[in-house]
Amino acid sequence: MKVVGKIVKRIEGKEKAYGEAKYTPDIYFDRMLYAGVVYSNISHGILKSIDISEAEKVPGIVKVATYEDVPGTNKFGVLTKDMWFLIPVGEKIRFEHDAIALIAGETKEAVEEAISKVKFEVEELPAVLTIEEAIKDEIKVNNEETNIAFHKKIRRGEVENSFEIADLIIEREFRTDYQEQAYLETQGAVANFDGEIMRIYGSMQCPFYVQEDVSEILDIPFNKVDVIQMETGGGFGGKEDVPSYIASKAALLSYLTKRPVKIIYKREDDIKETSKRHPSKSKYKVAFKKDGTIIGLKSETYLDMGAYSTLSPIVMYRTLTHSAGAYKVPNVYVDVYGVYTNKVPCGAFRGFGSPQVLFAIESVMDEAAEKLGIDPWEIRYKNALEVGGETATGHKLEFSVGAKKTLENIKKLSNYEQLKKEVEEFNKNNNIKKRGLGWSHIIYGVSLGAGGQHLDASNSEVHVFPDGTINVMFGGTEIGQGSKTAISMIVSEILGQKLDKINVLQTDTFIVQDSGPTVASRTTVFSGNAAKDAAEKIKNNIIEFLCNKFKVKPEDIKINLGVYKINDKEYSFDEIAKMCNDSNVKLNESGWYRSPKLHFDMENGVGEAYVTYTYSTQLTLVEVDTLTGKVDVKKMWISHDIGKAINYDGVIGQIQGGAVQGMGHAIMEEIKQKNGKIITDNFNNYIIPTIKDVPEIIPDVVEEEFPYGPFGAKGIGEPSLMTAPPSIANAVSNAIKKRIIKIPISMEDII
Ligand code: MOS
Repeated sequence: MKVVGKIVKRIEGKEKAYGEAKYTPDIYFDRMLYAGVVYSNISHGILKSIDISEAEKVPGIVKVATYEDVPGTNKFGVLTKDMWFLIPVGEKIRFEHDAIALIAGETKEAVEEAISKVKFEVEELPAVLTIEEAIKDEIKVNNEETNIAFHKKIRRGEVENSFEIADLIIEREFRTDYQEQAYLETQGAVANFDGEIMRIYGSMQCPFYVQEDVSEILDIPFNKVDVIQMETGGGFGGKEDVPSYIASKAALLSYLTKRPVKIIYKREDDIKETSKRHPSKSKYKVAFKKDGTIIGLKSETYLDMGAYSTLSPIVMYRTLTHSAGAYKVPNVYVDVYGVYTNKVPCGAFRGFGSPQVLFAIESVMDEAAEKLGIDPWEIRYKNALEVGGETATGHKLEFSVGAKKTLENIKKLSNYEQLKKEVEEFNKNNNIKKRGLGWSHIIYGVSLGAGGQHLDASNSEVHVFPDGTINVMFGGTEIGQGSKTAISMIVSEILGQKLDKINVLQTDTFIVQDSGPTVASRTTVFSGNAAKDAAEKIKNNIIEFLCNKFKVKPEDIKINLGVYKINDKEYSFDEIAKMCNDSNVKLNESGWYRSPKLHFDMENGVGEAYVTYTYSTQLTLVEVDTLTGKVDVKKMWISHDIGKAINYDGVIGQIQGGAVQGMGHAIMEEIKQKNGKIITDNFNNYIIPTIKDVPEIIPDVVEEEFPYGPFGAKGIGEPSLMTAPPSIANAVSNAIKKRIIKIPISMEDII
């Protein structure tokens, strides 16, 4: 191939490095107002009254809005509309950052002052703060019969029988805690209502969700709500549904004042208000034969949804389908529950409900290996998926299963047998510092799967200009992950134009059709396939014209990078574009891709859960200080089967970044709360890995092509994170000779 798989420059890299790229905070309009939010500051209670009179008197304040000012629905919710936009008087406050009022003013200072002058009375109620309290149901978060709001299950085979005939049963309880997405750019939006069209500029993963929610909040039609993606400083799931709540605040104030309104979150408000990874509690019971074969798995997982359901039911679908990990398990009995608590709503975060259970099953695998006297690599290899095999949901795999290759590659790359001896030797000679090795082997369903097929399609627009330059717009978004570069490479590969002549426009809901969210490691596959479709249509138009003009057959035209060769004569792509344009050849086309239909029984959780899966393996070497409890991650070897690396450098970057974010979850990042209120609300006390914490990383890419992916690509966005927590936890367990059953692993846990 000419471009795909090669090392290229990131197409928007220079502007970002030079500080020229336009992010949401960089937008200024004449007469623009700044917005702020009045928060409840209690975890649970009833709003008795609101008094905005003093706030309105602050000089520079243009509007103070409450629930009474909302022209549309005043509610949010992806599946269940259980979340107020602005809490009405007489209704319940369900967590500390529920919004009571919105303020627009000429300066940020005036807005801050007015926020402190909004008075409201509440009747406080006792709060539900843990999964256990939620299950007890003594206090109800959402006025419903029970706090256990959602339940999903897998019922496959005869699990009880597998326990009867098992040689070994492992039973364990596991816990995982919050993780904050910690994108460098906080949430923000600018809304500009001109009396007819509402234009929103924002930092988002899905402008289409924002369009829909703003339309409902303001009660104006979709064709009056234009949402435009700005350069975005990270999302990691935290900008999937949340930007609707942010943009709607700016939109309401702009609608009421008829002036542009900017809202940019402070880190503290961002951490306190917006979604995180769900805390979880799991109970596992897994049956093994003597030789290490898994014959049955029973598990029960509770996810702490926080005050509102938001994306939780969809997150739970992924928890469910990933509960048995990357293995052939014939008998499966899984229950996943989502419970309400009076805390920050949890939602999407890289991995989307799967890291919680992948940690559990990978821990069980290690414990079984130990008890059976089998090497932890061996037990994974023995149970690994292959073409022809079935996943835990009974999905028969027909292609693109590189699971075993990732295991083989890491064993080789790490020189595993030698490494084990070195670790043993080190531990013999050291009393306080102990080293350990830990494996993980995981599966990840690409895209939204059977639980979200109605969203699983994408549009891309490609436009070749008469001078040969090309504009591309796709329905996915660039959030820092590199989608602009990967998709330009696909267009470049098909049309033969050089990468530096291709420009990617920011996603705009007035131009591209609803393409679903940029989540679920789906953008290269979905927007990429759509861009490929559009580019192929243009290429066909060009080839048809050239065949007529030069009296040749399509196979006589040789396309190289930037050059078409016809009858031994070379024409630059730029010359070809001019020729075509001057002969009325159609040079702009729309591309579309939709997910192949999946067959899945939602009641029993059985069938084709996803279009395809990525498979990954990690080995980690850690050194634990047994006096202080400090874990030093020394080296990580990581292999991912992603079908095809479109942008090789980008893939390596994802592998490194994901693993480091996973390491943060495993041993560093902790959300601390008091009465449901978050204390760790900035990076001085919410500690994430920095460059000094990054260990040596040996990445590896396996390319078992996915027949429906662009050039065979699957996805890398999320699997990159999920191998790290179980691999690190297993390495720590191996070092201290005690099983780690919760993440994050604190120094106190180790002591
Ligand atoms: Mo992603 S966690 O699927 O936004």
